[in-house]
Amino acid sequence: MELNREEQAILNGEQGALLRKYMEILVGIGEFFDAPRLVPVNSVHVPSVTITSLGEGGRQLIENTRKAGLHCRVLTTVNPAATDLTSEDRLGMPEDEYQAQQEVADHIRCMGATACFSCTPDFIGNAPRFGENVAWGEVSAVIYANSVLGARTNPEGAPSAWASALLGKTPLHGLLLKENRKGRFVVRVTTELTGQAEYGALTLFGGRAHPELVPVFSDLPGTIDWDCLKAMSAGLHLGSQARMFHAVGITPEAATLEQALDNRPPLDVIEFGRKELEETMASLDTERSDEVSWVVIGCPHCSLFELRQIAGYLEGKKVNSNVELWVLTSHPVKAMAERMGLTAVIENAGGRIIIDTCPDGFTGRTLRGQGHRTLTTSATVFAHSIGEYSAPHLFDNHIHYGRAGRCLDAALKGSWR
Ligand code: F3S
Repeated sequence: MELNREEQAILNGEQGALLRKYMEILVGIGEFFDAPRLVPVNSVHVPSVTITSLGEGGRQLIENTRKAGLHCRVLTTVNPAATDLTSEDRLGMPEDEYQAQQEVADHIRCMGATACFSCTPDFIGNAPRFGENVAWGEVSAVIYANSVLGARTNPEGAPSAWASALLGKTPLHGLLLKENRKGRFVVRVTTELTGQAEYGALTLFGGRAHPELVPVFSDLPGTIDWDCLKAMSAGLHLGSQARMFHAVGITPEAATLEQALDNRPPLDVIEFGRKELEETMASLDTERSDEVSWVVIGCPHCSLFELRQIAGYLEGKKVNSNVELWVLTSHPVKAMAERMGLTAVIENAGGRIIIDTCPDGFTGRTLRGQGHRTLTTSATVFAHSIGEYSAPHLFDNHIHYGRAGRCLDAALKGSWR
């Protein structure tokens, strides 16, 4: 891979051993993928900042990076942590783990990253432009950046994302190149879809159909909102290795079906109708009893508009006394919701607004410590694989999955039906 003089000097260790290590990460990836050179990025989103996903090695690297005085050169946001860092009860996270997570958060702040701890960085200002090269991690955010914003990113792991943040570069390969972004097969949507759970099911279905190909979703309504596009982005990777989709008329580089397919015939055309929707939804809705004790909404993190919808739904009502209702969002969105009186409505109804985290990032002790047997959610990711790494099989066949309205209804009734 060709390096310019400054890049080569960093690789030679002229700016310190640690920065050399980060440059080695980028160069190693670039050489593996035959990238011709590094290209500048203006934006990074770092995945895996929970203590579980970091592990001892990752925590040590972040601590060393802070101690070495290295700073992010470009706008850098970070994914959810393993708990709500502002909550008094730490969501039940054991004290030793909480301290460890706070230390990581502290290092991240000192390194100059935006300590948003959210998987919706575009809602808080990290919103790259169409065609811009960026280095994002967190698969749902990566797919959103590529497919909805039209930015270009590969799915970065934490080491390469930090390297890009500290160096302002990424290797030129994969989804940064136009030829790897072409749609290859078409999913025609022939049924009306309502809400995020259904849009998440759509991309899960499309991803499962041809896991190795970039899908093109056609016949979507022009009125689809950002939150449903966010849900589509979260649903795709659960059944697919593709890290982008085209939504015709929505994805900036897919104004038409022909453009999405780069004027080539599709390898397949499949239909997503009522039957496919119901079957996909049913594949995630696995709990056979009506028991509802933990309702979680907000994966990816809720927008202000979603909080407004939830508050509108809950106004003047009370969550069943046997149910915990959690609504996940980011700190800045919660602050705005407070100003608008939305948090008060949700909390008066008995709901709880959680920031900085998501239960999928909890440590196993924290997740098991919630003490729930079932989970009720409108989030495709939670329904598919919550706790996959930290507490495997904890909610296997114990998920109620449906639209947010149905989940909120269940929270009020204390029953799924
Ligand atoms: Fe975000 Fe956690 Fe869902 S990181 S996409 S809320 S699993």
